[in-house]
Amino acid sequence: MLITSCGNSQKLAASIARKLKVPYAPVFISNFPDGDLYLKFTVPVKGKTVVIVNSFQPYSNESFLRLLFAAETAQDLGAKKVMLLAPYLAYLRQDTRFHPGEAISSKIMAKHLSLCFDKIITIDGHLHRYRTLDALFSIPGQNLTANSLIAEYIQKHFHNDIVLVGPDWESFQWVEQIAQKIGAPVTVFEKKRHTSRTVSVKMVQPVPLKGKHVIIVDDIISTGHTVIQAARLAYKHGAKDVSVVAVHGLFVENALAKLKQAKLKHIVTTNSIEHPTNTIDLSSLLATALQNEK
Ligand code: R5P
Repeated sequence: MLITSCGNSQKLAASIARKLKVPYAPVFISNFPDGDLYLKFTVPVKGKTVVIVNSFQPYSNESFLRLLFAAETAQDLGAKKVMLLAPYLAYLRQDTRFHPGEAISSKIMAKHLSLCFDKIITIDGHLHRYRTLDALFSIPGQNLTANSLIAEYIQKHFHNDIVLVGPDWESFQWVEQIAQKIGAPVTVFEKKRHTSRTVSVKMVQPVPLKGKHVIIVDDIISTGHTVIQAARLAYKHGAKDVSVVAVHGLFVENALAKLKQAKLKHIVTTNSIEHPTNTIDLSSLLATALQNEK
């Protein structure tokens, strides 16, 4: 087995390789003077199971192209099997044509990845209208979850008087399971998305928040607006403080500063996307998922 990466997730890829005791060699990536992508494997891949560990953030479009080039090249060089381990898989939120003429990005992404990879593994993929990876990809897929790691983290670092909050119905699948694991009260807000940068939330399953340490749990922090609106509502209901734990911290458009302004006490993410807020390490979970592929 060879572990490699295409620019993102380098620390995580190296850590997974150390755990599996297999070599790690990132793909060499550069650009021609006109901007065309140049990509080169620096070690032989013939006969090997090549695992490309690479999140789609930052730069999801560029990452997509790099992954297609890398997978095709590995196949062409005689790899036995080419796998994608994308801790954060982009494009999944555009899973329907919300407005006439729009591209259904998740379907296009899945179609093209299915053509050049043999298997895909991700973590807490944003599966909404497509409930499983199998519904999107024509290759085997595995959607792992960080729920247990998040539950352990919350149990270790937050103590009495906590309430877990899911900012929207889609977060139910994460927050409800985590709350059950740790025996904490939970509520899920109702979110209305007006644009990709404006949302509003309301409390529909009342749970007392007064004087409580509220922990918002979500899969993705992108612009941060979802978490900010949920935090505002929690403070309005008397929360003592509000923190957030998320799987994928994209933090686009200065989101981290905005979250701090909104008085988020702790901002915790997994290392599915490299970021200073990374606190929960996914490398053991991911290495275990690859163990049988060796
Ligand atoms: C949406 O359903 C997701 O679970 C997240 O709540 C959303 O992607 C977060 O986006 P933003 O940070 O831009 O509000």
